[in-house]
Amino acid sequence: MLLPILIVGDKRLRNKSKELKKSEINEDFQKTLSDMFETMYDSHGIGLAAIQVGIEKRFLVLDLGQSELAEGEEGTRDQRVLINPEIVEREGEIEWEEGCLSCPDIQVMMTRSQKITVTYKDLNFEEQKIEAQDLLAVAIQHEIDHLDGKLIIDQLSALKKEKYIKELKSSGRRVVR
Ligand code: CO
Repeated sequence: MLLPILIVGDKRLRNKSKELKKSEINEDFQKTLSDMFETMYDSHGIGLAAIQVGIEKRFLVLDLGQSELAEGEEGTRDQRVLINPEIVEREGEIEWEEGCLSCPDIQVMMTRSQKITVTYKDLNFEEQKIEAQDLLAVAIQHEIDHLDGKLIIDQLSALKKEKYIKELKSSGRRVVR
């Protein structure tokens, strides 16, 4: 089932999401994850944070399967679910032009850590740790920003940000609340 994605202007995107509890990992949660993947693929995204579909909990889905392919290669699924993720180490810097399903029609040059170590809980609520670099590192940092109420447009100057929001509203896009 496709879920509606919250768009900039919706105040919920600014909330700090709460930790997910082990008891919340049930059938409904599995269904939510599968809906989030479906919604993400439908919008051609590589990551989606729960708050983007209105759930104020600290988890996110990622699939870089398509983006890492060489030309002509078949697409594969590379689904990842990170629950209560936390960046525990950072190294280096990388610039990346990022888009966001909650910020239509804009790309923003972001400075991110090039390499990160992330701890998170898996679907069995077991503690996991991964090292990520480049696109995967960027994608995780982007989605964790969502869990903290941050958006890529926060990097724009106040003037540019205002202009963007004004244009978005006048474009006739449905800006939720
Ligand atoms: Co985003």
